[in-house]
Amino acid sequence: MSLFDHQLIAVTGKGGVGRTTAACSIALAAAAQGKRVCIAELAGLARVPEVFGLPGRSYAPQRCAPGVDTMSLSALDCLDDFGRKRLKIQALVRLVFHNRLTAAFLDAIPGLQDMQQLGKIRHLIEEYEGDEPPYDLIVLDAPATGHGLTLLDSARSLGEMTRVGPFYEETQHIVRLLSDPDRTAIVVVTLGEELPVNESLELISSLGEDRAQLAAIVANQVRSQPLPDAPPWPKLRDALAASDQTDLVSLADAAQSTWTSQERALARLRTTIGLPIARLPRLPVVDAESLLILAEAAEQLEEP
Ligand SMILES: Nc1ncnc2c1ncn2[C@@H]1O[C@H](COP(=O)(O)OP(=O)(O)O)[C@@H](O)[C@H]1O
Ligand SMILES: [Mg+2]
Repeated sequence: MSLFDHQLIAVTGKGGVGRTTAACSIALAAAAQGKRVCIAELAGLARVPEVFGLPGRSYAPQRCAPGVDTMSLSALDCLDDFGRKRLKIQALVRLVFHNRLTAAFLDAIPGLQDMQQLGKIRHLIEEYEGDEPPYDLIVLDAPATGHGLTLLDSARSLGEMTRVGPFYEETQHIVRLLSDPDRTAIVVVTLGEELPVNESLELISSLGEDRAQLAAIVANQVRSQPLPDAPPWPKLRDALAASDQTDLVSLADAAQSTWTSQERALARLRTTIGLPIARLPRLPVVDAESLLILAEAAEQLEEP
């Protein structure tokens, strides 16, 4: 099954590795295959609009590229939405949900914020009004915390805390969607360095039974080989080393050794996990235009 045929792709990885950049690249690559895509950010984050040069955060979908929308979800927005759609008591919802008490309530129950946001995503996928679903694919910029894919854990544990009622039903729907490998895929983003690769291996092992959903690994900020192994470089290196250009030789050697450790780290990841790794090149700047280069690289992920 092709990655882009899923309904939800959760892009995860430790902060700073390029999760958001990878999510954008995957969304653009899927849109290039004709999919209608939405990138969802959580917790009110709005890095995606920034990358595409949009004015700012919006809970309502904003068009960021042809075939690609972006939404910035927050637990409060989603709870309000859920209240209106499911509890159908708008005035009460406003009164109860839009105050400090609600924020405290959302905060006090572990997993409730995650559940609200996942509920919105599930709604977009499963309960559209009208004939056609608004999107073929939602790409979720999913935070990785200490214990792996906590979003799914949240839905599970919240389901255990409740028994009946709309919250309980919602958690059950979410758990079913997130644990179905035909509908939900997990993509882990990493960097080609020792430490991030170790962290990715930890993250993957913490997926436990959800490991089946791990569809791909993306190595971001990948460097190309600075100097060819083949002659004439080795000969030129000897000549430079013999002259007074030894500083140049040191720089070249450093670049080469960074690349060599990148390749070693990625090879270790590949053999340990047994999945191909898509490589997103390191760019001078990430913006709407240069993302097209990354999107092209992300098209490698289409192959099952
Ligand atoms: N392939 C890349 N080439 C160059 N810079 C990148 C690349 N990917 C990410 N960056 C930069 O690295 C920083 C972190 O990337 P981001 O996608 O926001 O990471 P995360 O979402 O994991 O925190 C950003 O400033 C981004 O522009
Ligand atoms: Mg991010």
